[in-house]
Amino acid sequence: MNTPEDIINLFELEQAARTKMGNQTAWDYYASGAMDEITLRENRQSYERIFLRPRMLVDVSQRDLSTKVLGQKVDMPILIAPTAFQKLAHADGELGTIKAANRCGTIMCLSTLATSSIEEVGAQADNNLWFQLYVYKDREITKDLVARAKAAGAKALVVTVDSPLLGRRERDIRNRFTLPKGLTVANLSKAGLENLPDDGSGNMPGNTKESGLAAYIASLYDESLTWKDLNWIAQLSDLPLLVKGILRADDAKRAIKCGAEGIIVSNHGGRQLDTAIPTISALAMIKDAVPKDFELFVDGGIRRGSDILKALALGARAVLIGRPVLWGLAVAGSEGVDLALNLLRKELDLSMALSGVSSLKEIKRDLLVDRKDLI
Ligand SMILES: Cc1cc2nc3c(=O)[nH]c(=O)nc-3n(C[C@H](O)[C@H](O)[C@H](O)COP(=O)(O)O)c2cc1C
Repeated sequence: MNTPEDIINLFELEQAARTKMGNQTAWDYYASGAMDEITLRENRQSYERIFLRPRMLVDVSQRDLSTKVLGQKVDMPILIAPTAFQKLAHADGELGTIKAANRCGTIMCLSTLATSSIEEVGAQADNNLWFQLYVYKDREITKDLVARAKAAGAKALVVTVDSPLLGRRERDIRNRFTLPKGLTVANLSKAGLENLPDDGSGNMPGNTKESGLAAYIASLYDESLTWKDLNWIAQLSDLPLLVKGILRADDAKRAIKCGAEGIIVSNHGGRQLDTAIPTISALAMIKDAVPKDFELFVDGGIRRGSDILKALALGARAVLIGRPVLWGLAVAGSEGVDLALNLLRKELDLSMALSGVSSLKEIKRDLLVDRKDLI
């Protein structure tokens, strides 16, 4: 079916990406959630259960979607979540994504597990790159990653805290997911850890008869990570610290105590603990527990502009999108990422206009219907 020009929403983009990628193992890696994929499904469906109470007869002829995140202006409240191995989708990979972020006036968060290095991506960035950190058991490696991110011009450090081990992604286990020849964990080549195990190599510890990524993570990431370590990470650089993967108000408060300047409410796109709370519900709980202007972000299941309106109404400064960026890359490389971002931007703009708001600061919780008021 669809050429990129024919695609009118993210669901069509997803279908087109699936057809284009062909490779079932790579597709499954992108698409899957943990275990029964209940959280994956609920991330999306919980947006569908929230209803809007639009306000009429408001002048919405001038609309402004820009905002500030960590003091930096972005053209829209839609940021790019860190996703590993973007070259599985298209040769443009992470470099294609940063170029799209530049064109769209937004921020890209680069994964530790990128298939291009922080230096390569940093060289293309327009002051709009964040670096997502996974903490390796080897603290020297971890320190070096932070130093390199800073040197490459990253503007913030995003520490993902929901992955002491990899969630059980059954499709990846079945497929014995690993990277195809030619693709590596580019940020880790310096440390000699750029290859995922595969079931023939035998050169890595871990159970290579399952997901190669799960084996990699089990052998190298620090399962003993605690809040104490977050303090240590915070003082490794002067980069603002964001904590990604928080789902509870008490954890949010602790993150703030450790110096976090922002929190990304996330369940890793349903890929870690299955039946973990959908992120939009977690956001609502956390919002009430943090200072009014503290920057909260949310990701997971955002596929429509109206989802973004709802997340902002519940107190998010901006949202992040994961899979839709990968779909865009798969369909049309870097330009496909523009397509994903611009579809959402246009839908958000229209949702705002139809709700009677013309700037993000006018988006308040009273746009949403309380559950108790639904018949
Ligand atoms: C294929 C894939 C790879 C991911 N890799 C990472 C990663 O390396 N680091 C990380 O913090 N989160 C990672 N995530 C989680 C995303 O940052 C984000 O939380 C999630 O994708 C948001 O949900 P969405 O895909 O429904 O938009 C990954 C998600 C996907 C789908």
